Amino acid sequence: MTQPRFDLFTLVHKGQRRVLFEITSAAGQLSAHDSAGRHGLASRIRAFFATMIEHAEHEDTYLLPLVIQAAPELAARMQAGHAALDAQLADVLANVDAALAAETRVGDLALYHALARLTSTYLAHVDLEDLEVQPALWAAFDDAKLAQVQGQLVAAHRPATVMFNLQAMMPAASSEERAAFLSGLRRNMPPPAFAHVRGLVQPLLAATEWALIDAA
Ligand SMILES: [Fe+2]
Repeated sequence: MTQPRFDLFTLVHKGQRRVLFEITSAAGQLSAHDSAGRHGLASRIRAFFATMIEHAEHEDTYLLPLVIQAAPELAARMQAGHAALDAQLADVLANVDAALAAETRVGDLALYHALARLTSTYLAHVDLEDLEVQPALWAAFDDAKLAQVQGQLVAAHRPATVMFNLQAMMPAASSEERAAFLSGLRRNMPPPAFAHVRGLVQPLLAATEWALIDAA
C-alpha cells in the first residue's frame, strides 16, 4: 500500500469548519432576552477569529511562496480569498458590536446572516486549498519539504492558537486521522511538550485510541 502524502490542510480546516458551523448555529438560536448568551457568543467569535486571522497570515508567509512556485494562478486565488475573508471577518465583528450595543432580534438576525455569509466564503476557500492547492504542492514538492515548512508555520503560531486549533481539530477528525496526527506528534515532539498536548486533548479521545497512539 502506498503511503499517504503529507497533509497540510485537512485536519485544521475540519476543525475550523466545525467551529464555524457551531457559532453560526448558536447565533441562530440566540433569544433576544439572552444577554449572557450573546456576550458569551461574542467572546467565542472574537477568540476564534483571532486564530483564523493568524492562520491566514501564516499561510501567506510560509505556504504562499511554495504555491507561487507550484501554481501561480492558484496562489493568486488563495491570496484573493484571504483578502475577501478579512473583509467578511471585519463585517461579522461589526455585527457583533451592533448586536451587543442594541440587544434586539434584528441585530441577532443580522449577526446570524453575516456569519452564514462568512461560512459560505470560507467553505469555498478551504475547498480550493484542500482540493486544488494541496495536490499542486504534492506534485511540486516532496513530503520532507512540506513537513519542514508546516513545522515553521506551526512554530510561528501563538501557543494559545495552537491549543485552540488542537481542541477544535480533534473532535472534527476521524479516529484514524486523530491517531495518525497524534502519533506523529509523539514521535517528533520532546516528551514534555507531547505530555502537555496529551493533557489538553486527553478527554477527547477514547482509551482505545490512546493505546493505539502509544503503541505506534
Ligand atoms: Fe487559507
